[in-house]
Amino acid sequence: MKRWEDKSWTRAMRIMLDFSGMMADAVGHRHGLTVEQVNSMEHAFEAVHKHLKQQRRAGHLPFYELPYDDETLKVVLKAARKVVKRCENFVVLGIGGSALGGIALFRALRHPHHNLMPQAKRKGLPRVFFADNIDPEGFSALLNIVNLEKTVFNVISKSGGTAETMSQFLIVRNKLIRKLGRKRHTAHIIATTDPERGYLRAIAREQGYETLPIHPGVGGRFSVLSPVGLLPAAVAGIDIEELLAGARNADKTCKQGRLWKNPAGMNAALQVLAYTVKKKPISVMMPYSDALRDVADWYRQIWAESLGKRVDLRGRVVHVGPTPVKALGVTDQHSQLQLYMEGPFDKVITFLTVEKFRKTIKIPASFSHMDGIGYLGRHTLNALIQAEGEATRSALTQARRIHTVIKLPEINPFTVGQLLFLLEVQTLYAGGLLGINPLDQPGVEAGKQLTYGMMGRKGFEDRAQMIALKPQGIKRYRIAV
Ligand code: PA5
Repeated sequence: MKRWEDKSWTRAMRIMLDFSGMMADAVGHRHGLTVEQVNSMEHAFEAVHKHLKQQRRAGHLPFYELPYDDETLKVVLKAARKVVKRCENFVVLGIGGSALGGIALFRALRHPHHNLMPQAKRKGLPRVFFADNIDPEGFSALLNIVNLEKTVFNVISKSGGTAETMSQFLIVRNKLIRKLGRKRHTAHIIATTDPERGYLRAIAREQGYETLPIHPGVGGRFSVLSPVGLLPAAVAGIDIEELLAGARNADKTCKQGRLWKNPAGMNAALQVLAYTVKKKPISVMMPYSDALRDVADWYRQIWAESLGKRVDLRGRVVHVGPTPVKALGVTDQHSQLQLYMEGPFDKVITFLTVEKFRKTIKIPASFSHMDGIGYLGRHTLNALIQAEGEATRSALTQARRIHTVIKLPEINPFTVGQLLFLLEVQTLYAGGLLGINPLDQPGVEAGKQLTYGMMGRKGFEDRAQMIALKPQGIKRYRIAV
């Protein structure tokens, strides 16, 4: 029996939303919310919930079904087994939603120095890299350290035409062909893309690359539980079955139609109230865990791209959207906290905490004659990080700063699956409550089209004209250093 099939284990592994720090009882009425204010969102929540339920039933929200897709799971596991058998390095080429989910999973659920460990210590698993930028220095440095003969490149692009990813692909393909020849190079590329459409799909068909599908209705930032995130995770040795079981578990509670029973709905309502009623335009996510730091990066994208919109559902210009910021506990206590404590009252903070870390490390008792150092020796780093987190939250409460806490009993695929699914559903609810479409990204598409125009892609010439690199008649203000 898998451990997620054991009811008492899954009960013990449930993550918890604690929003005491959002309430007027804790921080006063000026910044905190009253129960009446939270209740005032009930009708709007129920309407959004009903709409999403209908959309889901009609098959318009396929990301909801990813945790139940056993067929894709089998295909991914098979592909991962093949990769693990024959390669030393697995390199993901992708950007935005095609990279951030995989990065978050890898950081949360693998050894933090997985790639630095000798192969035997990695249990024969490949090193896993994510190339999510096109900085020529960064990309060439990565290509310099992987032996192409022992490397598989996973090109991930839903649209199959994103300039950054396709440029990386063209560079890699060229190198592979030069080194291994036209025939052999195909075994070193796996394309994850739309099942039918797009250039990458067409190229994969023509070249004979192995492919994995991204459901046409699943957008990049909602694709972490599709082959986009699952293949890199499985190659890295992460138990993706447990991850999906965690997401299914979260789905059960996120299906609840009552606001006070639905953690995704409640957190969305709290965030929207903080943004609209309490005028907090900045939404910080601050994990007290190195392993969860890239979950905050992933959240930054899903929150920003989903909620940052020019028009609402009725077509009115609204320019809406909270600004997501990531911070890391305890590191950023020494960088950001001063601002959060004493700066403007413009933030709502979501803390991610871990009750039981996977390691315990004792601080040795030394210099006991020095009061300012000796006290540390009676403790563990675990106790220190917990104490600092609690002290920070309590100090913020005293300074009347609002915050929620998402508590993970421990970090494992089951809890991370719950967390990611919760945040995805929360984003949909928040979009509904703000009256915008959280599933499109016209701003990102516009940026892509301007790039195509500037790089001379046929059909996008007019876009190039919109950007004049040396605008005529516009005065420049510059100072050289
Ligand atoms: O979430 C999104 O839709 C975007 O961030 C995309 O994932 C990103 O632009 C990459 O697109 P694609 O997967 O089509 O290459």
